[in-house]
Amino acid sequence: MTNGIPANGRAKDDVLTQLETFRANDVPWREGKAFGYVFDARHEALDAGKRAYLAFMSENGLDPTSFPSLLRLENEVVRMCATHVHGGAEVVGNFTSGGTESILLAMKSARDWAKKHRPELYADGRRPEVLAPITAHAAFHKAAAYLELEMRTFDVDADTCRASAATARAALTDRTLVLVGSAPSYAYGVIDDIAGLAALAVEKNLWMHVDACMGGVVLPFMEKNGEEVAPFDFRVPGVWSLSMDLHKYGYCPKGASVVLYRDKSLRKHQIYACSEWAGYTIVNATVQSTKSGGPLAGAWATMQCMGEDSYLRITREVRDATQRFVEGIAAIPGLRVISRPDMTLIAFTSDDVHVFHLPDLMKKRGWYIQPTLGTKQKSAAPLREHVHLSVTAANVPHVDRFLADLRACVDEARAIPKDTTAEEVAFMASHIDPAQLDDAAFEKLLSFAGMTGAGVPESTAGINLILQALDPALRKAILIHYLNDLFQ
Ligand SMILES: Cc1ncc(COP(=O)(O)O)c(C=O)c1O
Repeated sequence: MTNGIPANGRAKDDVLTQLETFRANDVPWREGKAFGYVFDARHEALDAGKRAYLAFMSENGLDPTSFPSLLRLENEVVRMCATHVHGGAEVVGNFTSGGTESILLAMKSARDWAKKHRPELYADGRRPEVLAPITAHAAFHKAAAYLELEMRTFDVDADTCRASAATARAALTDRTLVLVGSAPSYAYGVIDDIAGLAALAVEKNLWMHVDACMGGVVLPFMEKNGEEVAPFDFRVPGVWSLSMDLHKYGYCPKGASVVLYRDKSLRKHQIYACSEWAGYTIVNATVQSTKSGGPLAGAWATMQCMGEDSYLRITREVRDATQRFVEGIAAIPGLRVISRPDMTLIAFTSDDVHVFHLPDLMKKRGWYIQPTLGTKQKSAAPLREHVHLSVTAANVPHVDRFLADLRACVDEARAIPKDTTAEEVAFMASHIDPAQLDDAAFEKLLSFAGMTGAGVPESTAGINLILQALDPALRKAILIHYLNDLFQ
């Protein structure tokens, strides 16, 4: 760890060589053995994206009139995306840093639209609500927290994991402003009943947002490849805004997403202007003010270089591989794939071994797979803890090796004796009010959970078992405390 800026500048090669060594313990995406975090197309378009990113790294998106190059790039990226999800010429949008920013901006637009068009939602000092299935991404909760909206969730069927319009209708209140559906949801990989949800939104004059951060690029290509895809995009009446990430299945360099609106009158509420300070007048479409042109140029170049032909081929290969993963996992005694994946995201669990052991055991064999905690619902059956896989082009050549290793790891997990620490910690913590905990108590809880010491823990199974056993409020408090220590 360095202490302050070095007194004397170091040689460039020395710095870059050292930088390379920092990656040693990162997720092993280059070998195609990671099922999350990095979306790798294994295509020369990635090189085009990288070079375009570097070429435009210093251009500034702060003011589109000073850099017409960036204005053109943004309008072209937005048009490629809008057309892809069947938006007409009236559909507009912006390039953002990622799915979270796209969602945050859509929620801001909805909030400010409501101030004008549904003022009754603000009557008596009340706050409008975002109504989303429990499977909707945490970015909606974050947006609600940042924007001072209320967040309300509704259950999904624990087998299909798909949000239905009937359940949404039962959860509506007289304060509901936004209705959310995912295409597909991250955790369980299924597309909600977007047509049904959007019809409900039309009936109740709600703002319908489709989170297609995962599916916005892939689903239309699946359809073009002849697959049946549930309607999710601007062809569905009532869909007002849609988020789609390019740094996921668009295979663009990170910092690339788009938020789209059915028309300009909705997007107007996204834009922020400030003329109350002493400097230049600020007028920003997105959250950042000064922003690098790198991600935008990288996205434009990647998409141009990929073209529909490569996207279609890669989509077909990744879908085929997903099918082989699903069949192979289902054939491993003790494992069960939860819900049928509508795209390329897989969630599997076990009634036999504890799935939280599998990421640790697979890590020893060089793989990264993602443990996910289970979720209690209001009245429907709980959603099961599971392992998540986002399958990408880089994983396609490794299906058989992965399945063989997973099978072996399930056998190893079966031999691990049951540990009762999680239940003991949960029992101990059951009377704790997170608001009353001081630093010392947090440290104690973290050490019980095996989350002490500098850096990142080697094994995560014990930690996840404990986190899963805790009340969500305490779990959140512990994780905040942990992260607050992790970063200097
Ligand atoms: C469905 C969905 N929505 C939103 C997001 C948030 O995207 P980001 O991590 O780019 O902010 C994700 C991320 O995985 C996602 O899967």
